[in-house]
Amino acid sequence: MRALRFAAALYARRLDFMFHGYVRRDPMALLQLRPGRHDPYLMYERIRAGGDLVPTRLGNFVTPSHRVCNTVLRDRRFGVRAAELTGRATPDQQVDMSFLDRDPPDHTRLRRLAQPAFSPRRMADYAGRIEQRVGELLDAAAAKGSFDLVSEFAAPLPITVITDLLGVPDADADRFARHGATIGSALDGIRSLRHGARLKAASDELDDVFARLFVLRRREPADTESATDLVSRILTAEGDQIRSHELLPMCRLLLVAGFETTVNLIGNAVNALLDHPEQWAALRADPAGLAEAAVEETLRWDPPVQRTARCAVEEVELAGRTVRRGQFVVTLLAAANRDPEVYSHPDRFDIHRTPEADHLAFSSGIHYCVGAPLARLEAVIALRMLAERMPGLARAGTVRRRNAGIIRGPIHFPVTASRRVPAQTV
Ligand code: HEM
Repeated sequence: MRALRFAAALYARRLDFMFHGYVRRDPMALLQLRPGRHDPYLMYERIRAGGDLVPTRLGNFVTPSHRVCNTVLRDRRFGVRAAELTGRATPDQQVDMSFLDRDPPDHTRLRRLAQPAFSPRRMADYAGRIEQRVGELLDAAAAKGSFDLVSEFAAPLPITVITDLLGVPDADADRFARHGATIGSALDGIRSLRHGARLKAASDELDDVFARLFVLRRREPADTESATDLVSRILTAEGDQIRSHELLPMCRLLLVAGFETTVNLIGNAVNALLDHPEQWAALRADPAGLAEAAVEETLRWDPPVQRTARCAVEEVELAGRTVRRGQFVVTLLAAANRDPEVYSHPDRFDIHRTPEADHLAFSSGIHYCVGAPLARLEAVIALRMLAERMPGLARAGTVRRRNAGIIRGPIHFPVTASRRVPAQTV
């Protein structure tokens, strides 16, 4: 028995040694393992110490540099259709994500269909609906006193908005939200066979909700000029601008991108503000004037989407290295947002900052987030009304973060809703 235990301990030490050696040599392993998931910013600095473009063990590259990320994301010699070049999907990306996953001309054709739903006119239409929903959520939370900031505030808001935007009937909204969240978890890759099976079941159920929606809207199209119901608009283009088999992936993309990200923006913003009481006090003193700045600083300092990747479609000279056709460059958006060559005091969360350059939280180039105006609108209204109506908001327990590498945000965030401002922070 003792011998067995000794052998096990030796084996564990050997594994540990191999593991740490491996991690030290591979920048992507740094991020994918638990410490990197817990505090990626520490790992980004270790990667940055290796240079602007660091090779990975799998024969790809990773960049923490704002300049190099921006160049790669805008350079048409890099694309997202890696499978055709390499026979394998983009690292981290396992689900068909419509035009997020397409290069031109398909990307251009499909994106053009979705774009009008995010025009400034449409944003003005959504604002009232968002304010109304934020008000309802805050009323319910205030009545309870203690609540979970994620499940009772940050998550229901984008779900309502995206359900409205797609025109999903109320009767289907709950199933829709549940299965959408499961699909969203695939943005970080499939973790286990069980996770894969859950994903497949959720995907089938969601397809079913959408299939019924398509039947309904083909029969009774909603007003395609109204703020809501993107599905009716997409269906009018079927066969012309969009093929039938492309309908589902596009709806799935809008659903997942719409709520797996905004929930984390709101969660990360409140988390940062409560960690910096002087900034929270400043926002409380001027909610209408500072909510937008608080959202932008959160997007820079702790963005919900931490990284993306591109594949070279031809050989490219980049940052003193040769990237061959078929090799990936992982662009660390969150590291770029703290690049000391661009931002002064990059690690400081400061809602009064005048940033030296645009952050890359919404990416750059042709895949720049089409939903950015909506995400900003939702988060600005949420923060403004939270500061106005719950100035005494305080933590009521430990924040638990999602165990994910690409998408970053709290999953459990207990708070109390007191209207009173604690004396020491006034
Ligand atoms: C804080 C919230 C959000 C963040 C941080 C975010 C971030 C991003 C990023 C980084 C990309 C580009 C990925 C790449 O370059 O590979 C992207 C693309 C996209 N986002 Fe967002 N997003 C947010 C909210 C939304 C919302 C609310 C919607 C829609 C309702 C949306 C829809 C999309 C779509 C459709 C794309 C694909 C664009 C393309 O490929 O041309 N996003 N988003």
